[in-house]
Amino acid sequence: MPSAKIYYDADANLDVLKDKVILFLGFGNQGAAQAQNLRDSGIPNEKIIVANRPDHYAEDAKSRGFNVDHDFANAAKTADVVFLLIPDQVQPRVFNNEVAPNLKDNAVIVVASGYNVFYKLLKFKPSQDVVMVAPRMIGSSVRSLYEKGKGFPCFVSVEQDGTGKALESALALSRAIGATKAGAIASSAREETAMDLFAEQALWPNIIMLFREAFSVLKEAGCSDEALCYEMWMSKEPAEIFERAAEEGFIQQLKHHSTVSQYGQLNGALALDGSAAREHFKHILNNQVGIRAYVDDDLADPRNPQVLNGKFCQEFSKIEDDLEKEGDANPLNVLYTKSEASELGQAEKRVRARLAGLL
Ligand code: NAI
Repeated sequence: MPSAKIYYDADANLDVLKDKVILFLGFGNQGAAQAQNLRDSGIPNEKIIVANRPDHYAEDAKSRGFNVDHDFANAAKTADVVFLLIPDQVQPRVFNNEVAPNLKDNAVIVVASGYNVFYKLLKFKPSQDVVMVAPRMIGSSVRSLYEKGKGFPCFVSVEQDGTGKALESALALSRAIGATKAGAIASSAREETAMDLFAEQALWPNIIMLFREAFSVLKEAGCSDEALCYEMWMSKEPAEIFERAAEEGFIQQLKHHSTVSQYGQLNGALALDGSAAREHFKHILNNQVGIRAYVDDDLADPRNPQVLNGKFCQEFSKIEDDLEKEGDANPLNVLYTKSEASELGQAEKRVRARLAGLL
């Protein structure tokens, strides 16, 4: 693969946004941060609309001086650009039913995550532009870094170029929210979805499992709950290791550890045969996430599109409505209960109760 293009402020022209009406659908983590950044980049307040159901997010937008419309369909009619910043699982229903039928034929639709575009869950007109501007940061950091005059990592892509000017718009919008200051990386909904879902469904589940099993083995060997919780995560040592990995290098950060530790970690990792993990990871990516490696034949053959609807996407869409329910009717609550029943989960509860006030 060639290295990815990186776009900076100089690649983007804010003039293309002149006179455009920009709609923020949602004023949550990302919506609040991106709308404020965009306004502070010089887009006039009267050209910005926040469409939000009447809730505390809407009140927050009003208190910050934004024009808030509770009627999504009405707000969509005047918009030239729509930032789709409501939760991913809510987007297909709200966008397809209320927004899409009222949008201009040449509107620019901006997503902050590839998921719904990659799995083709949103209905766009071929004449519209669809771009991804996906910050790799939580909303509060998107805002605070902008306020400090710094950039933040972000992926940018054109997913549909209905007007022929989608890239120009994507870059101008990226610059307006502060994403090209430190360089926005050219990506795609496919790549972003693959990496996001892979981290969520392959890498982190394995890390959680490794911590859970390590905890049990060390406990069996006589270590106390208190010592284990502190040793394994409450000291924040893992957070520090990852911080150093980001700053100095994934391997090079090891040099801050003792010689015994460096030897143990490097030697131990090299001695592990990763082939079973590799097969397990590939299985999740191919079957669960539904993303295979690019194969030239696949791309050329229209009967064999690169977009395979992943098993996860199909299964998740069946439970989406249940995620707003209370108690055991909500599958996420059931997963929390089961996970907290583990030895690690129970021990941490006891330790935190005992140390309440000291932490
Ligand atoms: P959020 O959870 O903060 O969204 C809250 C907003 O959605 C509020 O304005 C709320 O009124 C509205 N909302 C919630 N349920 C609704 C419903 N049923 N009907 C209508 N409006 C509803 O969303 P967040 O986390 O900002 O995510 C927005 C997009 O940004 C997603 O595509 C997400 O993947 C992406 N993203 C999020 C990041 C984060 O830091 N959370 C990081 C990068 C991308």
